[in-house]
Amino acid sequence: MNTPMISPNIVVCESGPDAARHVADLLASEIRTKPDMVIGLATGGTPVDVYRELIRQHREADLDCSRVTSFNLDEYVGLPSGHPQSYRYFMQQHLFDDANFSPAKTHVPDGMAADLDQYAKQYEQLITQSGGIDLQLLGIGNNGHIAFNEPGSLMESRTRVVELAEETIDANARFFESTDQVPRRAITMGIGTILEARKIVLMATGESKAGAIAEAFAGVCHPSNPASALQRHANVVVVLDPPAASRLGS
Ligand code: F6R
Repeated sequence: MNTPMISPNIVVCESGPDAARHVADLLASEIRTKPDMVIGLATGGTPVDVYRELIRQHREADLDCSRVTSFNLDEYVGLPSGHPQSYRYFMQQHLFDDANFSPAKTHVPDGMAADLDQYAKQYEQLITQSGGIDLQLLGIGNNGHIAFNEPGSLMESRTRVVELAEETIDANARFFESTDQVPRRAITMGIGTILEARKIVLMATGESKAGAIAEAFAGVCHPSNPASALQRHANVVVVLDPPAASRLGS
């Protein structure tokens, strides 16, 4: 790909909670402007406060999510939707059950699909049929992964089944009783899928993300840091707290 590098718009907020409010305001403003928008959503620790703020705006400030279509980035293979560590369960608990999303318009990849490869193709088709993603929310792994596109993933990759990197399994073990219980495989949107979103908002907080963030936006796009592919996208906002921003430009 010969697309030139584009500097993202980087916003450093005063704290993690401020960063979450900032991201929630960006999302809410898009929903208010286009109530039937298509939004791409992430799970993990990073967006929890973002979703809490969206729920607050739904309850106290008339934020209407009933016409929004959502697509989540990823899901563990082998976890049923009712499993407390499945990403479908996470989304119900942290957002969908408490804001007025229409259940039929929320999509989280099905990690229990009988034919995962076929299912991955259908997920892509569903995104296309919905008109494509208007805004994609992303977190970032300590190793630079976006969604579950681990280092080495192709920039053109599409939704597919992947093996999780050891460092991702270790990082996510905090949500399980032991490392052994973390699934080894996941179904994830590809980097190519993510880059087709019309706007991307990447949020990162904490010192553990500082290295990955510095590398991702250092002006070189390299498969060793999947998030560096975002430099090829013309409409990316990166929202950080000071620790996550601490190694930028180093
Ligand atoms: C989750 C996802 C992952 C996370 C990343 C950071 O849907 O796609 O890429 O965004 O692993 O996770 P946290 O926020 O837990 O640090």
